[in-house]
Amino acid sequence: LKAATHFSMLIELLKKANSKAYVLCDENTYAYCYHEFCEQIGQAIEVIIIKAGEHEKNIKSCEFIWQSLIEKLADKETVLINLGGGVVTDIGGFVAATYKRGIRYVNVPTSLLAMVDAATGGKTGVNFGHFKNMIGVIQPPEEVIIHVPFLKTLPEKHLKNGFAEMLKHALLSEKELLQQCLNFTDWEAQIEEAIILKSLLIKEDIVAQDLQEKGLRKTLNLGHTLGHAIEYAAFENGYEILHGEAVATGIIVAIKLSVKKLNFNATEAAEIIEFIKQHYPTPHWLKKHQESILKAVLQDKKNANQQVKMVLLEAIGKPLYDCICTLDEITAVLNQI
Ligand SMILES: NC(=O)c1ccc[n+]([C@@H]2O[C@H](COP(=O)([O-])OP(=O)(O)OC[C@H]3O[C@@H](n4cnc5c(N)ncnc54)[C@H](O)[C@@H]3O)[C@@H](O)[C@H]2O)c1
Repeated sequence: LKAATHFSMLIELLKKANSKAYVLCDENTYAYCYHEFCEQIGQAIEVIIIKAGEHEKNIKSCEFIWQSLIEKLADKETVLINLGGGVVTDIGGFVAATYKRGIRYVNVPTSLLAMVDAATGGKTGVNFGHFKNMIGVIQPPEEVIIHVPFLKTLPEKHLKNGFAEMLKHALLSEKELLQQCLNFTDWEAQIEEAIILKSLLIKEDIVAQDLQEKGLRKTLNLGHTLGHAIEYAAFENGYEILHGEAVATGIIVAIKLSVKKLNFNATEAAEIIEFIKQHYPTPHWLKKHQESILKAVLQDKKNANQQVKMVLLEAIGKPLYDCICTLDEITAVLNQI
């Protein structure tokens, strides 16, 4: 595991850096995590604060941070520390990768989703218009530090949100971890360091083999073709939805298509879908805004030659990427949800 569970490497890095470091927070992580962070590293570091939420993941927030760095005379040796959920790590990573053609950055994730997923792997970027993650670059952080006590203040709905990506990692890897996930009932009690690290390791292992997403890394998009399209439709039509909630519904679509097209075990499929339906709200507007969802499906970054390419499963731990699915097939499944 490359991610650390202690701050010593960051403390060393700050000692050796011959320039200032800055912490990027959103208003919540500033309120709930910044002081704990300063205690852990034994010093106070100047902070740049952005507003919280997915709606802030845009180029305007980047402009604000770039401007702040310029005013603070940040130079090429500056280290940016992203202390927050996936929104902060995605924006902060992008700002760092582009400021003066690139400065170093460290991710200190504070949400479950960022711990198991967003903070690792080097994908950075922002939304553009209503399209998710349209503008960005792949630039890995210097390091990622997992400090599980940050989760104490994370609202339960955001724990569940991150859990959707853990479920995805389990589906991509092994039955045992999946079964452990399907037995979850009490997120606050059951989310602990061991299972977080296990989940993160699955992602790290895949990314280590294919940083630029030429092949294997595409499997991490399981549930995301529809997940991102549902987020787009929510944005466009004024509904609130969390990334993990949209991905959870996206996983249902992928599993149903897997049963149909790849003979994925129907009994296992039913168990997984039942779990998701029990714990994640299915957007009630799926049918009403189907056109909006399908429009976004066609914009998915994995498509080529106008064909929709999805990640499906032959079995648990046996994903296939670039599976061509027609809009009719997707519509048929959406109508069953
Ligand atoms: N780069 C990647 O590989 C990757 C992977 C998955 C998801 N993502 C992105 O991650 C984003 C979602 O991440 P997220 O769910 O962490 O959202 P988020 O960053 O918006 O965090 C969720 C909410 O929790 C608050 N919060 C965070 N940590 C807290 C804490 N410890 N205590 C109290 N409040 C806290 C935040 O302020 C925010 O209001 C999406 O934009 C998604 O596209 C990126």
